[in-house]
Amino acid sequence: KKAVIGVTGLATMGRNLARNLARHGHAVAVHNRTPARTKALVTEYGHEGVFLPAETPEEFVRSLERPRRIVIMVKAGAATDAVIQEFAPLLEPGDMIVDGGNAHFEDTRRRERELRERGIHFVGTGISGGEEGALNGPSIMPGGSPESYEALGPLLESIAAKVEGVPCCTHVGPDGAGHFVKMVHNGIEYADMQLIAEAYDLLRHGLGMPPAEIAEVFRSWNNGRLESYLIEITAEVLAHTDPATGRPFVDVVVDQAEQKGTGRWTVQTALDLGVPVSGIAEAVFARSLSGSPRLREAARRLPGPSRFKLEQRFADDVEQALYASKIVAYAQGFNQIQAASDEYGWGIDLGAMATIWRGGCIIRARFLDRIRAAYAADPRTPTLLTDDHFAGALGDAQDSWRTVVSISAQLGIPTPGFATALAYYDALRAERLPAALTQAQRDFFGAHTYRRVDREGSFHTRWELPDRPEVGA
Ligand code: 6PG
Repeated sequence: KKAVIGVTGLATMGRNLARNLARHGHAVAVHNRTPARTKALVTEYGHEGVFLPAETPEEFVRSLERPRRIVIMVKAGAATDAVIQEFAPLLEPGDMIVDGGNAHFEDTRRRERELRERGIHFVGTGISGGEEGALNGPSIMPGGSPESYEALGPLLESIAAKVEGVPCCTHVGPDGAGHFVKMVHNGIEYADMQLIAEAYDLLRHGLGMPPAEIAEVFRSWNNGRLESYLIEITAEVLAHTDPATGRPFVDVVVDQAEQKGTGRWTVQTALDLGVPVSGIAEAVFARSLSGSPRLREAARRLPGPSRFKLEQRFADDVEQALYASKIVAYAQGFNQIQAASDEYGWGIDLGAMATIWRGGCIIRARFLDRIRAAYAADPRTPTLLTDDHFAGALGDAQDSWRTVVSISAQLGIPTPGFATALAYYDALRAERLPAALTQAQRDFFGAHTYRRVDREGSFHTRWELPDRPEVGA
């Protein structure tokens, strides 16, 4: 008997994905560079389904039915290229390689192009949901050719999370589209986590609430419109007491946030595309700042404001600010996906992305069904902010939002995520932006020209002449 699909790279994610496939009745070939892992998987979980263990790449490839489907679950970067180089020569036209790692979409575009020349489908696939998701149902974002999705889609959809019976998996678009969307998912994940951290900080150091009490606030928020996996685990973390010291767990963790790079890539790519994703950018910068001990140590002696007393209902304002800022961060992320889809001709269906993020992934939330509905109402909306539901929520939230941002400043508690989201909201709303002044300055010092509000064309003012005549450029 042959396997319908194979997984190589059996660290936690690969192992759990293989088990998920086997548990759904798919015979799965398994391979790892060091065979001990393969053996351990079969010994421990062999009873869960049909596993075909292979010691060598040749044996692995032989054990697969054709066209072959190989999922590689190794570290993004050089390791991925090495595994591709090892397996590609053993494959035949029509076979498929699925890369389930967090690859950079430009790498995926290159790999897809190279393998396409050899007749092999390369399917860069975003997989979200961590270890637990890989085992019990992740959100899956496959790119690559439509033909490859015909052969892979049913398999992937069978192991994906389901929301109201709908699998959290769809063909995102060609070549690097899947990995691009996964990258933005992670960027949004960063923004979401930063906003939650700011809300926590305000309740902790603004209102002076202990972590266990804040856990209760998050639990109550999780019963409302903010219901999401990240809010839920935040409550769990805040309620946890460190067994060794008896202190709140959050107080014994070093306050320096790390990152593996997907958030940074999101911002780098957004800069190239010219899409403002300030919410994600502030989240990446907040992590970098937290991880700069020398800088922080040096600045610690700078004076802060004198304290003032806050009312308990400030917590409700924080909830409003959190929800409003979240709307902005997601709107920005979706705009980035739209821009890349236009740039690369991917034809990504934004509503479908919201749909497959409703379950399985780290940012899963009730909120994503709202986004799905917004795109269903207007698939080409320039921004989610103007959707009736979101516009209404922003309108209702804005007074609280402004209070929170200004009080944070008065308290000396940094809320870059809330503040940048509010600035974005106000900038988009503005009738006139001071960008007009920026343009005039550019023309003054560099003759970079400007357009006028009252006439077509491009103009330059001869600033060096006493009467400053204007010339059409
Ligand atoms: C997911 C996550 C995952 C990511 C971690 C860590 O969707 O399951 O996004 O893919 O690797 O969240 O990311 P950082 O180390 O950069 O925080």
